[in-house]
Amino acid sequence: MHTAESIKSVVRERYSEIAHQDKALNETTCCGSGAAGGTYTIMADSYASLPGYNPDADLGLGCGLPTEFAHIQSGDTVLDLGSGAGNDAFVARAETGAAGKVIGVDFTPAMVQRARQNAEKLGYNNVEFRQGDIEDLPVVDASVDVVVSNCVLNLVPDKAKVFTEIARVLRPGGHFSISDVVLVGDLPDSLRDAAEMYAGCVSGAIQMDAYLDLARQGGFENVTVQKQKPILIPDHILLEFLTPEQLKTFVASGTGIFSITLYAEKPGGDPSEKQQRADSRKTQMRNLAAEAGKACCASGSGCC
Ligand SMILES: C[S@@+](CC[C@H](N)C(=O)[O-])C[C@H]1O[C@@H](n2cnc3c(N)ncnc32)[C@H](O)[C@@H]1O
Repeated sequence: MHTAESIKSVVRERYSEIAHQDKALNETTCCGSGAAGGTYTIMADSYASLPGYNPDADLGLGCGLPTEFAHIQSGDTVLDLGSGAGNDAFVARAETGAAGKVIGVDFTPAMVQRARQNAEKLGYNNVEFRQGDIEDLPVVDASVDVVVSNCVLNLVPDKAKVFTEIARVLRPGGHFSISDVVLVGDLPDSLRDAAEMYAGCVSGAIQMDAYLDLARQGGFENVTVQKQKPILIPDHILLEFLTPEQLKTFVASGTGIFSITLYAEKPGGDPSEKQQRADSRKTQMRNLAAEAGKACCASGSGCC
């Protein structure tokens, strides 16, 4: 029987090893399960062109671009949950500028050490990495403007506690942008195992609806999926577990594993600031829908 503590200790051990590996070994998966091989990359969005990108901090462990939807302003205090070697923290730092502050929290000592070395090399004195569990954040109440996180909550046994903690540390009117792996529909057990081996980040993933409910139950409003993309497992792997007929039914069922980027706000704060952010989010969603060739206001475009 796995307890929350035993799960955490397995996760910590795994990321301790990963902290000493290079990106090439991790990047065929999110979460760095390292088993997939080949040319497939879950993290299809590229960081490389983003201001603040630091290749030393990119261990190929993400499953989205949470900063893309984080609406970070110059001078903001940003908190990155499960910060790894600092990949999203340094991108966030490019947006907060020298006037802001970025705090990364990770419970794997080797990751924190690697992130601190990266910050030192960059000469940043406003990017700080703290060792701690995101179920019990080492951060004071109402002290953060924006929370980001990339492919971490799926690894955490008590996700509800994480949302409660995010609500505690955000100032009223603050918001979060979280990328993560979720499930839609019931994945047969054999497929779930295959997917875990192939993509990582699946064994602790929960249903998308349940994930959104946890955010709402944590007290957040305007809970919105800003981006959603399927994590596709190639047919030749699926066919090890399914007959061709079952594969057809599976593909048609809409069941699958998705990477999502979820946005939500803590109630309170300045209404005009919230309105500005809402307008800018709408414009961003419209532009994304246009880029993807989807009409705005089409079902699922999310921009209206
Ligand atoms: C998939 S990696 C993502 C790292 C980073 N966000 C990135 O995209 O490069 C997951 C990270 O979350 C950390 N982590 C997992 N569970 C955690 C917890 N309960 N508290 C703090 N950190 C945790 C791991 O140590 C690891 O560094």
